[in-house]
Amino acid sequence: MEVIASSPGKTILFGEHGVVYGKKALAVAISPRVRAKVSSNDSLGVNVKSEALKLNHLSTYNSQTKKWAPTPPDMLTSIYVAIENIGKETGNIDLMNNLLLEITSDLPVGSGVGSSAATATATLAALNQWWGTNLSLEKISELAFLSEEITHGKPSGIDNTVSTFGGLISFEDGTIESYSLSYSLPLVVADSGVPKQTSLQVQKVITMKQQKPEIVAEILDAMHELSERAIPAIHNKNLKTLGDLMNLNHELLVSLGVSHEKLDSLCEIARKAGAVGAKLTGAGGGGTIIALAPSFNDVETIVKALKLEGATIISSEISIEGVKIEQY
Ligand code: MEV
Repeated sequence: MEVIASSPGKTILFGEHGVVYGKKALAVAISPRVRAKVSSNDSLGVNVKSEALKLNHLSTYNSQTKKWAPTPPDMLTSIYVAIENIGKETGNIDLMNNLLLEITSDLPVGSGVGSSAATATATLAALNQWWGTNLSLEKISELAFLSEEITHGKPSGIDNTVSTFGGLISFEDGTIESYSLSYSLPLVVADSGVPKQTSLQVQKVITMKQQKPEIVAEILDAMHELSERAIPAIHNKNLKTLGDLMNLNHELLVSLGVSHEKLDSLCEIARKAGAVGAKLTGAGGGGTIIALAPSFNDVETIVKALKLEGATIISSEISIEGVKIEQY
């Protein structure tokens, strides 16, 4: 028997970093997904294989010491934390032997498109199905948040929320609102190839906030305001306004020191190729940009221009579906 669960990646349309301080952000799930397959094997513990991370590791959970032995490699810690947390939550903590968890992903790792959150939610959903426990989506998202804390230090919770629930959501101080879109956003998500570390970028803002509290507070307030204004613009399909708001959001992120010259130049190239707006998305410092085309007919020109600059296109499709069981 085997169980496969999958979760979408995400892109933040507005409000990254501000969302860490309780400001409003808007995010959308994208079509590339992470898959977690659970099956049994003869290993005395939990064997995690990640194709993307090129890791194959076996650890056993010791209920006395409450530790995994041997200690999992750093890159797999958040996955083992997810397994431990769902094991405790469902009363299966002492039954975690002979398990094989295989992770495969369409998402690049460390690019700001929510690969770590999607890995955690897919893992949790697969184990939930494997054990026949009936954890709610809210609980899966909550447990994935604990794994995000391992990966990012001070996560807002937006990534695990989008990969759990899918679609378009707003997130403010833990309050989630889902929006249905009556049309598809012509959005291009492109990876700069510059590696980034979310925790480092989040720390940069924490430090700047300590040094210049009033200025940073105003920048964060302005980001909140952009998210507020984006909601009616999306609703009314006012893509020009939405694009202007994205450009402004990018400049605010630049002023927080979380952009990168490659991200700035990719945004500029997308605009020159016809995008009505472009911005970095996620933590910044590298990773991904998003560009909004005036219509789907214009997507190809923008994609071509970004590719010529060395970017990899991750997606131009939004996913309505959040975490789901693919096979059991
Ligand atoms: C993460 O995708 C974006 C940040 O806002 C951090 C977070 O919300 O956890 C930088």
